[in-house]
Amino acid sequence: MGRPTAPEWAAHKSVGIFTWLWFVFRSTIIMLVVDNPLSWKLGFRGAVNKFDDIEGPYFVQGAPVRQVGDGQAVLASKELLDKFDPFLIVLEVKDTKGEPVRHTMIDTWQADGSGVYYFFTWTLRGKMMTDGEGRVELLTVRPGEYLNRACHNHLRVYPSDNAHRQMTTQMYICDGNDPSFMNQDMANIWRPRADRQVVSCWAVEESKDGKQYHNLPKLPAGDVDMVDAMNRWNAKLADQGVEKKLMSVGRHQIQITAY
Ligand SMILES: [Fe+2]
Repeated sequence: MGRPTAPEWAAHKSVGIFTWLWFVFRSTIIMLVVDNPLSWKLGFRGAVNKFDDIEGPYFVQGAPVRQVGDGQAVLASKELLDKFDPFLIVLEVKDTKGEPVRHTMIDTWQADGSGVYYFFTWTLRGKMMTDGEGRVELLTVRPGEYLNRACHNHLRVYPSDNAHRQMTTQMYICDGNDPSFMNQDMANIWRPRADRQVVSCWAVEESKDGKQYHNLPKLPAGDVDMVDAMNRWNAKLADQGVEKKLMSVGRHQIQITAY
């Protein structure tokens, strides 16, 4: 399967009027029917796959591909990377036996660092594909809180092998990697607190006042793979003329279930 790559990092694109009107209609149905809290209480959702989560009302169908290389994607434009905190997530898609699921398309969307979603442009929305090892590195900005939501990325996962189910999930970015940070998460009304969806994050370096960035542990020098990824992406940031460097990195695994 071909993996298209985008020549420019998160190129600016507007959302068409018909796409937008469909989004408003579709989101209403999702919130009333699909994301209904009863779906979890009655066991229609979350019973088979504990990574199942609400889609929420902010998904716009048809986002552009943000792939920049094999297993590499950039969701934030240069402007956003300079404005907010550059953040790298290494995401792995596995099956329930722990085997990697290759070439899985993931559609992701998130708020910017101040908790703002964009609806008239495809800003911080896009598709990416896992590589031959079920892995994708996503360069973005750290999402901010909005309403009573813990910081998160939304994901819709589309396996290409026809053997696994599609899944809608979220990954949570909590201060200190502490799931209790999600105690106030409004999504707890819909589903149980989503502890396994917390991304393991590390701060790249200590902040100037001696406090850890978002109370995160410092990235250990012994984590060779992550240090390598961090260095590669910092070099790419510099190449693109982004003045900021990565502030934090994260690693996350999601499991999809077979039919
Ligand atoms: Fe959200």
